[in-house]
Amino acid sequence: MKHFRLAVIPGDGIGKEVINEGLRVLEHLSQTSNTFTFESDYFPWGCEYYLEHGKMMHEDGLNKIKNHDAIYFGAVGYPTVPDHISLWGLRLAICQGFDQWANIRPVEFLPGIEGKLNHPDKEKLNWVLVRENTEGEYSGIGGRNFTGRGPGKEVAVQSSIFTEEGCERVIRHAFELALTRDRKKVTSVTKSNAQQYGMVLWDEVFQRVSKEYPEVETDQCLVDAMAANFVLHPEDLEVVVASNLHADILSDLGSALSGSLGLAPSANLHLDGRFPSMFESVHGSAPDIAGQGIANPIGTIGSAALMLEHLGLPEEAKLINDSIRAATKDGILTADIGGNNSTKEVTDSIIAHISKMY
Ligand code: NAI
Ligand code: MG
Repeated sequence: MKHFRLAVIPGDGIGKEVINEGLRVLEHLSQTSNTFTFESDYFPWGCEYYLEHGKMMHEDGLNKIKNHDAIYFGAVGYPTVPDHISLWGLRLAICQGFDQWANIRPVEFLPGIEGKLNHPDKEKLNWVLVRENTEGEYSGIGGRNFTGRGPGKEVAVQSSIFTEEGCERVIRHAFELALTRDRKKVTSVTKSNAQQYGMVLWDEVFQRVSKEYPEVETDQCLVDAMAANFVLHPEDLEVVVASNLHADILSDLGSALSGSLGLAPSANLHLDGRFPSMFESVHGSAPDIAGQGIANPIGTIGSAALMLEHLGLPEEAKLINDSIRAATKDGILTADIGGNNSTKEVTDSIIAHISKMY
């Protein structure tokens, strides 16, 4: 029997609602499977904490969660707190502070959901984005308020950092992931025609690493063309590896194509054994629907499945994913994907399917 300790950070808005649903599923699965137990430590960090304490998390926050087996994260963002403060103060502080260098974002097409992609074999499609998660465009290097420019003449500099090691570990992970899939293919996405330093380095590392994986088919594509490919040739996609910013944008596109931002799970992986990894849905705190009980919990429940897989429970992870598919196939859907079920009803249906599978 495995046992693990979760650091739970619900965050703001619908983050709090969906994280409860994910924990309900984990609780139920723990009881029915009898293969694992877990305990949760809650950390009330986020924008409300910021409004009270002037910071997004406790100043010793990273130390408080660094010995947990995994972090389960809702979402952050609040209309009265600037987004760059909430993002840098919590989510990026954890991803970068714990060197969670690979952000895994699968794109799947669930039965019973119409979605926005017009493709004859839609339900057979699935691909996974591997996002560089600690440097690139989100390195945070830059500055503002350069003096002496006068009104209306402010200059801001925002630099990207690409290190050979940073590129190599995430590209290598994409190849390793490809080896586990039926079709072994990795597509690298950059904009190296316009960004001639960092992204050319990325391209060179991709070509070098690819030589070590002769059994994996490779492709390289510029990010603007890749945005079109997501819509026009999704059957070409298998494992797609891209920089922090590019993969961030492409993953929202992928989840929108599959039906809703609320469906997409993600894993922020630290794979070197020093720090915990973090699991969260791709979406944000959705203030427009917060507090109404209608948020789609599937992205966060799917993130729990990614967490179990990471913790060495692949069969239990598959059970969650199969139960999600069974629920959507039954037409138990929240409003964002054309249904009229509540957050809780969707979770209840997923839980009922888990029970049936035992
Ligand atoms: P968002 O993802 O919160 O919402 C975008 C749209 O998708 C909204 O119309 C929302 O209602 C809908 N949506 C998102 N998740 C949904 C779900 N589970 N069920 C049903 N509908 C859902 O992105 P937005 O509006 O750009 O940002 C809102 C706040 O979230 C901002 O403060 C932003 O900085 C923050 N944010 C936080 C992230 C995180 O914590 N990882 C990621 C993205 C944004
Ligand atoms: Mg995003």
